[in-house]
Amino acid sequence: MSEIANESHTAGDAVLRVTDLQMHFPVRSKGLFPKTIGQVKAVDGVSFDVQPGETLGLVGESGCGKSTTGRTALRLLEPTSGKVEMDGIDVTRMSAKDMVPLRRKAAMIFQDPYNALNPRHTVGAIIGAPFAVQGVEPAGGVRAAVRELMDRVGLNPEHYNRYPAEFSGGQRQRIGIARAVALRPHFIVCDEPVSALDVSIQAQVINLLRDLQDEFGIAYLFVAHDLAVVRQISHRVAVMYLGHVMELTSREELYSRPLHPYTHALLSAIPVPDPRAQKNREHIMLSGDLPSPVNPPSGCVFHTRCFVAQDICKVDKPVIREFEPGHQVACHFPITEYLGSTLIVGPDPGLTPESDLEGRQDGDPMEQAGDSDLIHEPGTNYTDGTDSLIDPGPGLWR
Ligand SMILES: Nc1ncnc2c1ncn2[C@@H]1O[C@H](COP(=O)(O)OP(=O)(O)O)[C@@H](O)[C@H]1O
Ligand code: SF4
Ligand SMILES: [Mg+2]
Repeated sequence: MSEIANESHTAGDAVLRVTDLQMHFPVRSKGLFPKTIGQVKAVDGVSFDVQPGETLGLVGESGCGKSTTGRTALRLLEPTSGKVEMDGIDVTRMSAKDMVPLRRKAAMIFQDPYNALNPRHTVGAIIGAPFAVQGVEPAGGVRAAVRELMDRVGLNPEHYNRYPAEFSGGQRQRIGIARAVALRPHFIVCDEPVSALDVSIQAQVINLLRDLQDEFGIAYLFVAHDLAVVRQISHRVAVMYLGHVMELTSREELYSRPLHPYTHALLSAIPVPDPRAQKNREHIMLSGDLPSPVNPPSGCVFHTRCFVAQDICKVDKPVIREFEPGHQVACHFPITEYLGSTLIVGPDPGLTPESDLEGRQDGDPMEQAGDSDLIHEPGTNYTDGTDSLIDPGPGLWR
């Protein structure tokens, strides 16, 4: 496993660049003639880029707009305003037809491996779907390519004809990963890919994603609500709050010298393994809940919960700016001193040795993986290659 490098990437060669991206959803009144009565400002002016082979972590509380950012960046949603560029091509208003060749370059891995796979399709059909949809005939045929992919992600190729129900949670996420990398995309949005998994299985899946990145040079936008998970895989991290990026910098900077009060608060909530160090750390409690994105606070959207807010924060929205080279923050009063909340950055916590990735399912997969206690919620949409990512249905892709 190669070390995560804190490389500085040159501008201009981004696989993804979003500029001032907004995604607002209309709120409609009930009744016979519904009217638009407001907007959910899920994403409200977000800018970042993802460089080749890089992982940008996108972290924040549930409901802050992470998934919407990822889906809009892939043009699975039509942005309200702003710009989305893939490999330097402006795709913001590109038609569905023109998007088709670009779809090979980008893919998505979903949070819930139970609902992300169509139970009626075999694993072979699910992983092979991108070839069929894009009309790609790999050398040696689709079947051989799928078997090779299964082998690469730690699944037994002999299980080609099995159905998702026969696999455990971690193995199903491997199926989703194999499908995502089938066409060797430049870029993958990973939307909470390990949040539904046991901690030990999380580490294996993260190791697999890192190995695939090393091998194929894939860039990830890695969405998660858990800062400790994001730290394990990200080169840089963007912290989101109520539709805005509050801070964006390298992993090392963010976890050792955070500037934004919100980042300080998030970091203070992560326990450190050393009990003495933990005892001396201060837990910053944020007052109140996440405000509604329909009615975000004036000025700085964080001012209702910020422990260092001043009057100006209520009226003047801070623009994200480069406070130090490579360290952006959206705050009038960045905190530069140690608050007792900062993580001591050491080796990546909790990563599982690579040998564990070889845990193939030669017997009953449900018994082997140890993560079979996840609950399948029936009645949700399946998001495998045919149902959502490849063909999300009318209204999503133009
Ligand atoms: N299709 C939609 N229609 C209306 N509101 C939505 C839709 N999708 C997401 N939202 C709202 O946008 C906000 C951000 O959602 P989301 O991007 O899913 O957040 P996160 O992934 O950070 O949990 C939430 O308030 C959510 O309810
Ligand atoms: S701008 Fe003001 S309210 Fe917003 S995070 Fe900074 S100090 Fe807090
Ligand atoms: Mg989400």
